[in-house]
Amino acid sequence: MKNRRNILVTGGCGFIGANFVRLLVTACKTWRVINLDKLTYAGNLNNLVGIEEGESYRFVKGDICDKELVEQLFREENIDTVVHFAAESHVDRSITGPADFIQTNIVGTFTLLEAARKSWMAEESGVNNPCFLHVSTDEVYGSLGETGFFTEETPFDPRSPYSASKASSDHLASAYFHTYELPVRITNCSNNYGPYQFPEKLIPLIFNNALHGKPLPVYGDGKNVRDWLFVQDHCEAIVEVIKKGSNGHCYNIGGNNEKQNLDVVTVVCDLLDGKVGLLESGNPRSSLITYVKDRLGHDRRYAIDATKISSKLGWQPKMTFEQGIEKTIDWYLANQSWVEDIVNGAYQNYYENMYKD
Ligand code: NAD
Ligand code: TYD
Repeated sequence: MKNRRNILVTGGCGFIGANFVRLLVTACKTWRVINLDKLTYAGNLNNLVGIEEGESYRFVKGDICDKELVEQLFREENIDTVVHFAAESHVDRSITGPADFIQTNIVGTFTLLEAARKSWMAEESGVNNPCFLHVSTDEVYGSLGETGFFTEETPFDPRSPYSASKASSDHLASAYFHTYELPVRITNCSNNYGPYQFPEKLIPLIFNNALHGKPLPVYGDGKNVRDWLFVQDHCEAIVEVIKKGSNGHCYNIGGNNEKQNLDVVTVVCDLLDGKVGLLESGNPRSSLITYVKDRLGHDRRYAIDATKISSKLGWQPKMTFEQGIEKTIDWYLANQSWVEDIVNGAYQNYYENMYKD
């Protein structure tokens, strides 16, 4: 089949990966998706409820650092495309325990690159139009002052163990293109939000605490800026990079939606007040905002210049922040048991300790 792809998605049970798998199985029906996920604390099979295994989808529980397993999947499934999401992704955890970040984000990426090289670059390899898409973050560029934007030419300046591990994996991916001509493409995206985001990240954490009348922890002065992108827009950008991107190129992806954290928290509170009513005390949910100790090395501002992907590949975000955040809050309200299963599960102790400060 001409348009057929056998695509290895790593980390497909996480937040962005699950949204991506959902997009592929509905919008790219001729692609076979093999989802390799270790199911760490952040991986959740409930994110893929309704996606059945069969001709177009297979789930494999496993570690991207497991060389034998990864090589076996390349052989067995005739993989021609990799979309590599699997990572340890939470900055706060990278500060308290960086080891897993080094292992998964660096060694895991290396393992996948090696398997792709072995499978695709062999003389007898008949693979058609292969593509290794490494999914990364704008955090590799470091922190901006009040003005300016990250472009694809901005030098890397990572400041947290998370962003340093991602920068390292980006360098490895790029090196495999230059050294071995492995068909690598890299995307560096801004902060995502939307359905299935693990409730340790700002927006779902604030949603859940605000709903239940708990304190809303805002780090430092709350004026740090992030550029928010609705997750589905990110997933669509990735499909465009697979279909139309060029090997050896990086593409910045962003929503042109810069917001201070305090403003994001306030929007979530106001939406909840409007949808479920004020707190029992009669106060608005924003009265729960509690300033806590700042994150160590907290990057002040991120902002993406997405001119390249828009001019070269014609991608634009479809969702404004106002539309996307309302859709997100509606999703979380309609899926409260999804959050509760996580918060009441193995994650509970860590979650409770997070805002003791
Ligand atoms: P997530 O933490 O929600 O999900 C990560 C997934 O990877 C989980 O399903 C987990 O089980 C899996 N995983 C972790 N270690 C693994 C291993 N060793 N082997 C196999 N699977 C493993 O992360 P996310 O927010 O969905 O982010 C996905 C990717 O996108 C990451 O590479 C991240 O750096 C990047 N990114 C995220 C954002 C964001 O705002 N969330 C922004 C830009 C880029
Ligand atoms: P986060 O969702 O962890 O994403 P990232 O660190 O990758 O940008 O945090 C987004 C912003 O919100 C960041 O500036 C840190 C801040 N933050 C809080 O103020 N309180 C919180 O409880 C969390 C989790 C984050």
